[in-house]
Amino acid sequence: MQTVGIIGAGIMGAGIAQTVASKGMDVILTDISLENAEKGKAGIAKNLGKLVAKEKMTQADADALLGRITPVGDYAPLSAADLVIEAATEREDIKAKIFEAIGKVLGPKAVLASNTSSIPITRMAAGSPDPTRFCGLHFFNPVPVMGLVEVIPGLATSPETVAAMKAFGERLGKTVVLAGDEPGFVVNRILCPMLNEAIFVLGAGIGSVEDIDAGCKIGLNHPMGPLTLADFVGLDTLYEIMKVFQSTTGDPKYRPAPLLQKYVEAGWYGRKSGRGFYDYSGEKPVPTR
Ligand code: 3HC
Repeated sequence: MQTVGIIGAGIMGAGIAQTVASKGMDVILTDISLENAEKGKAGIAKNLGKLVAKEKMTQADADALLGRITPVGDYAPLSAADLVIEAATEREDIKAKIFEAIGKVLGPKAVLASNTSSIPITRMAAGSPDPTRFCGLHFFNPVPVMGLVEVIPGLATSPETVAAMKAFGERLGKTVVLAGDEPGFVVNRILCPMLNEAIFVLGAGIGSVEDIDAGCKIGLNHPMGPLTLADFVGLDTLYEIMKVFQSTTGDPKYRPAPLLQKYVEAGWYGRKSGRGFYDYSGEKPVPTR
């Protein structure tokens, strides 16, 4: 595997691009426009700048890594990729359109993987160019730091594709776990209801933003409290994930917290929009309730 195409240059796509390029592979990074893809690359350059400042990386290595990432404005160049990873918005209608478009250029042996957080792989594979070469490949934010990747075969995914995805995850230096094709797979199936529940707890007035986060951070020894983590994942993403859990399983225990829905409707998506359960406009995040 030498060339990896990435569709979506947001937090996850850019994180995957940085990680892949750090292992010497070439990355073709695309988004809805060349401008967005270039913005994703600029974010990576900023991250690398911090690593250089901390003397964790040399400027020459950072430049070489960036040189392996090519932002593009359309899908045609992705025909050169051995693997294409879709890391677009967590909405099935958007992903379906992407799979249709990529079908026109995907190489005859290339694998198409989705970094979906929750959408069933078998269902998406059915609309992909070749379900035997389609697989879930789920990364964790921040991708360059988090040590895990989930590989999720769909019903039709071939053993060769699964083996290739496991080997790719290991080449990135990640621990690979194999997960079943059920909503949320392993990790998000456990994590997202916890984050959603923290928002129910906040909405019910059981604790303040600060107390809920301090309680879980200190009491459970988690690196971030659940409301900080929800802001970090993106409240829009969490909301979409909970809706997928609810609609796919039919189990009302997965209904999104009303306060989560309100925040999303207000456009308060968390860290990426500057405001969620915290306000990120100042030096330090400040609780908003
Ligand atoms: N690239 C490279 N390195 C990075 C980086 C990046 N983008 N972002 C952070 N780092 C490095 C820093 O340089 C630092 O390295 P050092 O310890 O060697 O100096 C290290 O990561 C820690 O960063 P910070 O010092 O800035 O911050 P913290 O110590 O507070 O750690 C954190 C930040 C790693 C994000 C930690 O708070 C954490 O682990 N939080 C939980 C994250 C988590 O749960 N992620 C999963 C979310 S769920 C998900 O993604 C699935 C999706 O489908 C919803």
